[in-house]
Amino acid sequence: MPTPRLLVVVGSTRPGRAGLAVAQWFRDVAYARGDLEVELADLAEVALPLLDEPRQAVERRYAHDHTRRWSEVVGRADAVAFVTPEYNHSYNAATKNAIDYLYHEWRLKPFAVVSYGGQSRGLRASVALRTVLTGLAMTPAGDVAVSLAECPIVDGVLEPTEAVAAAATRVLDQLSVLAPLHRELRD
Ligand SMILES: Cc1cc2nc3c(=O)[nH]c(=O)nc-3n(C[C@H](O)[C@H](O)[C@H](O)COP(=O)(O)O)c2cc1C
Repeated sequence: MPTPRLLVVVGSTRPGRAGLAVAQWFRDVAYARGDLEVELADLAEVALPLLDEPRQAVERRYAHDHTRRWSEVVGRADAVAFVTPEYNHSYNAATKNAIDYLYHEWRLKPFAVVSYGGQSRGLRASVALRTVLTGLAMTPAGDVAVSLAECPIVDGVLEPTEAVAAAATRVLDQLSVLAPLHRELRD
């Protein structure tokens, strides 16, 4: 069986965001294990407009090239890690928009949420996102919650605490086990 592919989605899109450093850290940890193919999708670069498909994603009849490109990226993933900020007690709008574009491409895949923020570590965003993703028949593999006060970003590189590093390992262990099983389910 081919090596499972993990898609790491950078949810925040604003200039100066912390999210890119958080996602790059998680991507690098995943890649270093050697048991996962890893792809990073930065929603700032994916640059989806606010949902502009005339048909619902469940029909899978896309009118726009940007949707077809996004469909290919998500479609080839066996597992997804959503790296999300907490904006006003939830996850951010760009992440929801990117989710809403697709349907079948998400289903029956395991996911992790890597949230970050101040003292709350983005936990409210994480919980809200989990509800949406389980509604798409995705399987939760665990969460990583990063306090940016405890894990500073120095020269664009996140410095995790031991606890955060251990949480990432646990979540990636789960994704690595669940990804091939879910591929069988989809087949
Ligand atoms: C629009 C907006 C809303 C925010 N709302 C919250 C919030 O509800 N709770 C929180 O802990 N932090 C909140 N923050 C602070 C963010 O956690 C912090 O700015 C973080 O760096 C945002 O991620 P980003 O830099 O990747 O965009 C908010 C920030 C922004 C820009």
